[in-house]
Amino acid sequence: MATDEKSQSDLEAELQSLLEQERFDPPEEFVRQALVSDDSLHRRADEDPNGFWLEQARELDWFTEPSESLDDSNPPFYRWFADGKINASHNCLDRHVEAGNGDRVAFHWRGEQGEEEDWTYADLLRDTQKLANGLKERGIGREDVVGIFLPMIPEVVIAMLACARIGAVHNVVFGGFSPESVSERMKVSEAKALVTVDGARRKGKTAEVKSTVDEERIGDLDHMETLVVVKRTGADCPMTEGRDVWYHELLEAADDECPAEELDAEHPLFILYTSGSTASPKGILHTTGGYLTGVAHTTRLVFDLKPEEDVYWCSADVGWVTGHSYIVYGPMACGATSVMWEGAPDYPDKDAWWAVCERYGVTILYTAPTAIRAAMKWGVEYPERRDLSSLRLLGTVGEPINPKAWAWYHTVIGGRRAPVVDTWWQTETGAIMISPLPALTPTKPGSATKPLPGIEAAVLDEDGSEIEEGQGYLVLKRPWPAMLRTLYGDDDRFVETYFEKFGRETYLVGDAARKDEDGYFWIVGRIDDVINVSGHRMSTAEIESAIVSYEHVAESAVIGQEDEDSGQAVTAFVTLEGGAEPDDELEGSIREHVAQRIGKLARPKRIIWADDLPKTRSGKIMRRLLRDIAEGREAGDVSTLREPGVMDDLAEQVRQRGDGGDE
Ligand code: PRX
Repeated sequence: MATDEKSQSDLEAELQSLLEQERFDPPEEFVRQALVSDDSLHRRADEDPNGFWLEQARELDWFTEPSESLDDSNPPFYRWFADGKINASHNCLDRHVEAGNGDRVAFHWRGEQGEEEDWTYADLLRDTQKLANGLKERGIGREDVVGIFLPMIPEVVIAMLACARIGAVHNVVFGGFSPESVSERMKVSEAKALVTVDGARRKGKTAEVKSTVDEERIGDLDHMETLVVVKRTGADCPMTEGRDVWYHELLEAADDECPAEELDAEHPLFILYTSGSTASPKGILHTTGGYLTGVAHTTRLVFDLKPEEDVYWCSADVGWVTGHSYIVYGPMACGATSVMWEGAPDYPDKDAWWAVCERYGVTILYTAPTAIRAAMKWGVEYPERRDLSSLRLLGTVGEPINPKAWAWYHTVIGGRRAPVVDTWWQTETGAIMISPLPALTPTKPGSATKPLPGIEAAVLDEDGSEIEEGQGYLVLKRPWPAMLRTLYGDDDRFVETYFEKFGRETYLVGDAARKDEDGYFWIVGRIDDVINVSGHRMSTAEIESAIVSYEHVAESAVIGQEDEDSGQAVTAFVTLEGGAEPDDELEGSIREHVAQRIGKLARPKRIIWADDLPKTRSGKIMRRLLRDIAEGREAGDVSTLREPGVMDDLAEQVRQRGDGGDE
């Protein structure tokens, strides 16, 4: 047996034996130095939740300190700290500079090609003020929506904080989304400006961005008056006079002093679109004081962050909520030194991440299970090339982590000295809700453990009764400061989606979960038609609507099929119009069409041709049965189908055509 194989099998045995252990106590060494190692916060929060939250809020820098905590006079439209005045940009920048920490590095930025730049808090404050002035000169002010469509470059943070500084509301779209998705999000939010880039880099290649924005005519939308363009790759980039302006020229011409506006705590901070049950994305609206309280508090509590000592790295993209809360607002409000990374985990080689950890001495790493599974598949040789001894805490987010990936992360990356915090939360919750406290909560691989202080979670049955042990609807029973305030422009959908099933005081999460005998929560998955691909939320309805918009397609049903790498993968059942014949070319075109309409993440991994789809008598597609077919199981109960024969036909088609999988 080759040495590599031997060490691989030793590792397998080690992981297996580790997994026989069900609970893991916080490592002693970690406990000794932790910020929080007793349950006094829990006790304080239980005895007076509103007082507890007000204390957390007061950790921030207010222009006018709030005297009130929760205003619950009109549920579910809760307000927090409503008589306080605050600014998020001030808390993330000026506060640290004023305290003498202007020279502290906020971001060690590492570009795709290995470029390195250190951005201090003072650097960011300077450019943020200039951009804020530039935006103001272009007529942007309080409550105007500004779109941001940028890769992982420092300008994305500057753009967000420049908006926050002047009370404009940012609407960041993940760089991997298609220009068509950007256009839709700009249209529905009536954005007045968009900050974008000439081109982006990915694994050594470059792609034009601004020109694709032009092709989609985003600049011609009714409300869109300004496109600010960052020069990144030198890509071909036609500029429309009067409307488009180079970022660097705007900054050069701008005054470098722009005092942060004194805003109400409930002033809107940002909109972030996420997938829901229908084809149109939901614009989650977060406001300033409550959100910032939630993210700053949880950054300290869950990551045990010590800003003078730690080097923190959250590997998410700023375009997702994880990036908003745990790259920008949480860590920056705490004055952290972070890594910001533009690259891909396997470029230039599969040790890219571990090289970053070694280079900057990363102490806290926060990532997604899908990335851990990929690293696990590539093998231990890559992390073993690097010195990872600085890591002292590891976090995961976005999807349930399978115990083997947990054990690998803990052993290979964390050297068993770093506790693993599996953090459960959502775009809507703004901040982490269920998670171990690293020095306090014994962990069980695969469980996010228990709600944080001040958060009350429960599992309910169909009638709203609490289930102490077993599976049901996950709910949050008490409002919390960082919760969404509404869906942008659609209060009715907000109430209907989250507060109808169990009433206006119980937030319906949209996940199924179970509680075990120790009161630990285990997230099972979504209860709505949302699927989770590599920790990213995708709406089946949105993908279906993209597929049926393609020529010759009559109908489509999309499901999340279990997948070893990405957790779930997009599988589409597609029915063609009479006369059209399925073939590989059509399959390829449909997949490309979805990528273009929504983004590459939404592209079906597998297409299964179907003559008909299983429907109930009322015409509802039974996805449960489609999942059975796709995952190769005997179909479950078919008695409620309008035409039970459909299932046999479908199974036969899958067999005959050998629809075994994707490319
Ligand atoms: O299903 C849960 C899953 O991701 C959903 C939220 O997705 P999104 O709003 O995009 O936010 C992702 C990052 C916060 C949840 O409804 N999810 C998130 N974290 C976990 C998780 N499932 C299991 N365990 C987690 N730690």
